[in-house]
Amino acid sequence: MSIALITGSAGLIGSEAAAYFAGQGMQIVGVDNDMRRQFFGDEASTRPNLDRLRRAIPSYVHYDIDIRDEAAIGRLFKRYGSAITLVIHTAAQPSHDWAARAPLVDFTVNANGTLALLEATRQFAPEAVFIFTSTNKVYGDRPNQLPLVEQATRWEIDPTHIYAGGIPEELPIDRCLHSLFGASKLAADLLVQEYGRYFGMHTACFRAGCLTGPHHSGAQLHGFLSYLMKCTLTGAPYTVFGYKGKQVRDNIHSADLTMSRRSWPKSPRPGTSAGPFQSRWPPRALVECYLDGGLGPQAPEKSLFPWLFWRRSRQNNHGK
Ligand SMILES: NC(=O)c1ccc[n+]([C@@H]2O[C@H](COP(=O)([O-])OP(=O)(O)OC[C@H]3O[C@@H](n4cnc5c(N)ncnc54)[C@H](O)[C@@H]3O)[C@@H](O)[C@H]2O)c1
Repeated sequence: MSIALITGSAGLIGSEAAAYFAGQGMQIVGVDNDMRRQFFGDEASTRPNLDRLRRAIPSYVHYDIDIRDEAAIGRLFKRYGSAITLVIHTAAQPSHDWAARAPLVDFTVNANGTLALLEATRQFAPEAVFIFTSTNKVYGDRPNQLPLVEQATRWEIDPTHIYAGGIPEELPIDRCLHSLFGASKLAADLLVQEYGRYFGMHTACFRAGCLTGPHHSGAQLHGFLSYLMKCTLTGAPYTVFGYKGKQVRDNIHSADLTMSRRSWPKSPRPGTSAGPFQSRWPPRALVECYLDGGLGPQAPEKSLFPWLFWRRSRQNNHGK
């Protein structure tokens, strides 16, 4: 039976991918050390998700390994060898703000961890398809340099601009502010592309915007839609960081992201990078998410959510 090795298998995307590819008849080998709990506290632990996964997929095999542990990762890949036909790499430190607190941890998890996985794949399973969940933050705050027009609930790209219908992967990555998280993910993204182009491996980067779904362990510093709903249900205050809450994000369901990736392993091209949904249909501004939920009857300018706090921020990306 061919093996799908999934890192971050207890997280939002990893657990969704595990369920999907197990349903396709693959053996799932998961790697996750619950580091999300270390990043964001007990409320963000992904252990409950792991327990759910084990109940749902009896054949699921789990390894509590840190992806930075090159030796352990090497041993794992050696054990399964060429039976590994698919690697889905989702383990990461995923927050801008957390990255600034501990840059070395952020970089080693996101960049070094990805390199350890690529190298183990090259040595022991070179024919495997390697899919990396990258991020649109590799473009830094470049999108803020586009001509943005302020509307009632959102910032929109000028409709006459070439990118009004969606921002392509050709958007430059230089001469802008990335955040340390953006830089560590970009390093990983380039390594994944390079292993494809240089070694001819079947690697791809999926540069997502905001991902969401029922199995997100939402915390203030990551998983804003899940966290917004948590605050709504518990009555806890929700803080908006900058831009009047009009910053626009695409919000892709974890199942839809997994579906978008399912055809790629059948026709792999080396070193691909793709923004899976850079069309115009899904993006929502933060205040629109709030209003969509039937939570705020008034216009956001009047502001109005008794428990919604606004905070100024120098960067559009904070608090994602
Ligand atoms: N959720 C989003 O909005 C979003 C948007 C764009 C890109 N991404 C990317 O998608 C990927 C998955 O995101 P997610 O929302 O599922 O995150 P998540 O935090 O829910 O899942 C990641 C999992 O990886 C584990 N992990 C972290 N560091 C580890 C390490 N050193 N060793 C082993 N396991 C480790 C965590 O414990 C967690 O269970 C990440 O690479 C993230 O940067 C996410």
